[in-house]
Amino acid sequence: MKLGRVRNIVVVAGAGISTGSGIPDFRTPGTGLYANLAKYDIPYPEAIFNIDYFSDNPHPFFSLAKELYPGHHRPNYVHYFIRMLHQKGLLLRMYTQNIDGLEKLCGIPDDKLVEAHGSFATAACHLCYTPYPAEEAKQAIMKGNVPICTFCAGAVKPNVVFFGEDLPEKYFQHAEDFPKADLLMIMGTSLKIEPFASLVNTVKSTVPRLLLNRDPVGPFERRPLRRADYMELGDLSDSVRKLAEILGWHTEIQDLMNSHENGLRSYTDPSNSSGENSDSSETDSMH
Ligand code: OAD
Repeated sequence: MKLGRVRNIVVVAGAGISTGSGIPDFRTPGTGLYANLAKYDIPYPEAIFNIDYFSDNPHPFFSLAKELYPGHHRPNYVHYFIRMLHQKGLLLRMYTQNIDGLEKLCGIPDDKLVEAHGSFATAACHLCYTPYPAEEAKQAIMKGNVPICTFCAGAVKPNVVFFGEDLPEKYFQHAEDFPKADLLMIMGTSLKIEPFASLVNTVKSTVPRLLLNRDPVGPFERRPLRRADYMELGDLSDSVRKLAEILGWHTEIQDLMNSHENGLRSYTDPSNSSGENSDSSETDSMH
């Protein structure tokens, strides 16, 4: 990167990039979401995101959705590092499994972002896919009601991708992006969920793959590592900061984060009525 030889970085990310924002990941023992679902009385943890289970009983997901809806958390240093990759003209695309919306919130533009597991930004009937106003769906869910499709009377859900559902159209852009990548950065994911997990095997064999994660995952669990693979294990915020320092970007990222976060705060602060200064706008399978 320092020599300017890297120009098309693909970032692959998961819940570990948002733990620094106070959002639990899924599979970390003890703190992960799947270890803390006892109150929902579901047969197994992933059932809460299973489309057939939802079809039978949408209530556990809707109870959880009240907590998952974006709005309570801010992007952290790791998100802003990825935005800086974009600002430096180095980000070909970010593929995220996260549904917390923090990538958009930190300013990574839509055309650079693939939300592979969907988002809360839109909603539709889970049976006939008729679109439903996302804000109305949110209001109903927050009040403990089930939003109902006006066309077929099926339950409406936000367009987060459940086990048993297809991934969004945009995800299939990977077939063009990954062969073009000259560096793959994998951050904060257990690489346990297909088809997303296998994306990391679709860059050319000579392309460096950098894993930043607490523990080795996916192809990084095998020995020896592929010759162009490198992993930095530990807390993601520390590793990303270390990388930013090596690149000489640390202060720039902090300044970007401070100005963007202050802008967002003044935009949402009711005392600032003008709203100025804001530039915001088990190998499971999904199929
Ligand atoms: P997981 O919880 O499976 O994995 C998160 C990974 O990030 C683990 O390897 C953690 O060790 C690591 N991690 C967490 N916090 C970290 C930190 N501060 N520093 C370094 N590493 C950290 O989450 P995902 O891989 O994103 O799908 O899960 C993939 C999919 O499984 C999700 O999109 C979700 C879930 O079922 C659906 O809900 C459809």
